Amino acid sequence: MASHCEKNHLPPDSTPHLNGDANTHLPKRPKIAPTFISDSEIQSEFAHHDPSVARINNGSFGCCPSSVISAQQQWQLKFLRQPDWFYFNGLKKGILESRTIIKDLINAEHIDEVSIVDNATTAAAIVLQKIARDFSEGRFEKGDAAVMLHYAYGAVKKSIEAYVSRAGGHVIEVQLPFPVKSNDEIIFEFRKALERGKANGRKVRLAVIDHITSMPCVVIPVKELVKICREEGVDQIFVDAAHAIGCTDIDMQEIDADYYTSNLHKWFFCPPSIAFLYSRRSPNHSDLHHPVVSHEYGNGLAIESAWIGTRDYSSQLVVPSVLKFVNRFEDGIKGIKKRNHEAVIKMGEMLAESWKTHLGCPPNMCASMVMVGLPSCLGISSESDTLKLRTHLREEFRVEVPIYYRAPKKGETAPITGYARISHQVYNKFEDYVKFKDAINELVQTGFTCTQLSK
Ligand SMILES: Cc1ncc(COP(=O)(O)O)c(C=O)c1O
Repeated sequence: MASHCEKNHLPPDSTPHLNGDANTHLPKRPKIAPTFISDSEIQSEFAHHDPSVARINNGSFGCCPSSVISAQQQWQLKFLRQPDWFYFNGLKKGILESRTIIKDLINAEHIDEVSIVDNATTAAAIVLQKIARDFSEGRFEKGDAAVMLHYAYGAVKKSIEAYVSRAGGHVIEVQLPFPVKSNDEIIFEFRKALERGKANGRKVRLAVIDHITSMPCVVIPVKELVKICREEGVDQIFVDAAHAIGCTDIDMQEIDADYYTSNLHKWFFCPPSIAFLYSRRSPNHSDLHHPVVSHEYGNGLAIESAWIGTRDYSSQLVVPSVLKFVNRFEDGIKGIKKRNHEAVIKMGEMLAESWKTHLGCPPNMCASMVMVGLPSCLGISSESDTLKLRTHLREEFRVEVPIYYRAPKKGETAPITGYARISHQVYNKFEDYVKFKDAINELVQTGFTCTQLSK
């Protein structure tokens, strides 16, 4: 005879609880742990990477897993199969879907605040061309100031020269210390630069602030600096966060800048090239334009940017596939960021200990990249030495890593003049860093100095 329990499909020893299972008379199922992507699946997603190279430089060009590359190819085929259908029915919808995902990831208030462009360089041109118009159309006066970090990215500095200086802006650089020990040092220097900007009654019209500087690499206390700008009456604030999305936490409503850009092809697994440009809704917002003018001119930056002539838009359409990829990891992109940060610090400390050097900043001032001092006996004495040494490491040791030159200060004995910027991304293995460690130790043991490298 069937027992009461059996009739209710409950195992003999189960007691009904006042929960959903009991009320619906369903057996309580054992919780099944979600299955996350395995190590071997990660390796196969990146099997197209050259296996002979220790690629510890995700920061420069990012990476794209094979499942996303396949998705991109599907989009390309969709276009090539029936371009007219795709243009009229698929493209705008696809770009809007990507923008919507980005809007949620960055906590923007409104979808109109999010445009997709090629890269951070394009985003900087959009913002700085607007500033140039503010000068040429009389909203700003010649001699009004713009403040930027000394460590601003080279291409962005050129853009400031091309658009702001040429329009009559007075550009002031924030001198940042390196190595750096605390956010306070950065905040102090930033305040000093703003004071210089405001000297003689000048107005500070623009602040360009990096979220994560490129070289040397440091996470800047951007929220605090934006707040200071607001208190000091800076007109417009542009955050160049080329590295940020997928690397450090970003929240548009918390950061409160006017413009903020980040590449998705660096730390967010997209193929090149795709970046978002956030622009807070304000009168300035409606005067932003894509540098390539096409049919949509005047319809708002997001719409202008979604058609800048016939070209391949597939990299802008794969954002949903990237989201699927990152959600295969425990805690999605948040978990990836956390584990990359922990790993890069561990690897950086391992290298610094072996070479008897130090990290360029404390762990709380870096995300998935960290600067590691190189032994001073390598004799790095110029930027050209850093490039030559990088080439040497690539060609002789199969290690890919960028190097920063730091000019020694007066009176320093055996100063560290070279710092390597190491990255950690999901595909990296411990062996990648051991290969780098051993390469430098071999150079030191054999008495190598940069003077031995030809021009
Ligand atoms: C801080 C910063 N800004 C801008 C850029 C330019 O990015 P992209 O070449 O994708 O335009 C970079 C690239 O590394 C960067 O590090």
